Amino acid sequence: MNFQRKKIALIGGGQIGQNLAMLAAMKELGDIVILDVGDYVNPVKGKALDLMEMAPHGNYDANIAGTGDYKDIEGADVAIVTAGKPRVAGMTREDLLNTNLAIIKDVAAGIKEYAPKAFCIIVTNPLDAMVYAFYKLTGFPKHQVVGMAGTLDTARWRAFIAMELGVSVADVAGTVLGGHGPDMVPLPRLTTVGGVPLTEIATQEQIDRLVLRTREAGTEIVKLFGKGSAFFSPAWSAIIMAESYLKDKRRILAAAALCEGEYGINGLFIGVPVMISAKGIEKIYEIKLTEEEMAQLQKTAAGVKKTVEETQL
Ligand code: NAI
Ligand code: 2OP
Repeated sequence: MNFQRKKIALIGGGQIGQNLAMLAAMKELGDIVILDVGDYVNPVKGKALDLMEMAPHGNYDANIAGTGDYKDIEGADVAIVTAGKPRVAGMTREDLLNTNLAIIKDVAAGIKEYAPKAFCIIVTNPLDAMVYAFYKLTGFPKHQVVGMAGTLDTARWRAFIAMELGVSVADVAGTVLGGHGPDMVPLPRLTTVGGVPLTEIATQEQIDRLVLRTREAGTEIVKLFGKGSAFFSPAWSAIIMAESYLKDKRRILAAAALCEGEYGINGLFIGVPVMISAKGIEKIYEIKLTEEEMAQLQKTAAGVKKTVEETQL
């Protein structure tokens, strides 16, 4: 059968991958192929079948398949990469570098051969270095490659503010810039709650606590899990990026995009506000930052640079 739907390739069908598949199906973003390796191929075939059997109650039409063969992602419109190891308690994201770099090399070759036009959203950690590696290895244009982290970090920032103030999360707007690590840069000055500046509605002590919790949010969950890291909120974060591309929603989201001079950063993927349209990363927005915010951004960029250098790419 020849379907005219969009095609979404999910590379890695673990905790995040399986949630991506469910969300993509429920949002009817298109047909879905989940690719994994070795002993995980049969499980992803099983997950795909389970999701097909969920369709009558989930009320969606989508073809969902699991595979171990890159041929099956041929012509995908979007590829979301979660292939790789997650952290266990006590590990930093950087501890994953060598293991996940080897995996990204494999994934980049597969996507380059079979889905060279796909908008590629990288999720694998250490995020800012893995998206850089993927970009270098594929040679894809910069608007076609993006890292998912800022969308998640911003969701956490918004969630913690809503929890702290006892207000609807729908009314909290703000952004988090920088690398996906403890030096990331939430921007209280530019955060609002129903139009009211956060700096007027919360005390400095509350804001400091919220900034710290956001920076450590991934680790907070890793400590609770013991093994593995967050998956529901990362999956949603990547799905809204994919949706913005597939439906030309033109959402402005924080995401790791290649900076070439923006914010004084050159040649690094780092979390900045971007517009995601049918063209991919259509635009990077340069916010006028205070000296202190800029200094924080330069600090996180220095950390990202160090990890990127270790990839030797
Ligand atoms: P997981 O271990 O549940 O799933 C990863 C999957 O990748 C496994 O099924 C594994 O078999 C598969 N895989 C390994 N090598 C592969 C290859 N060469 N090709 C295809 N698939 C391969 O891990 P989870 O929880 O889904 O996390 C995935 C990654 O996302 C981790 O690196 C984690 O640190 C990262 N992460 C990133 C976040 C972000 O904000 N950027 C947030 C949370 C996690
Ligand atoms: C997270 O932030 C570990 O990057 C992962 O949840």
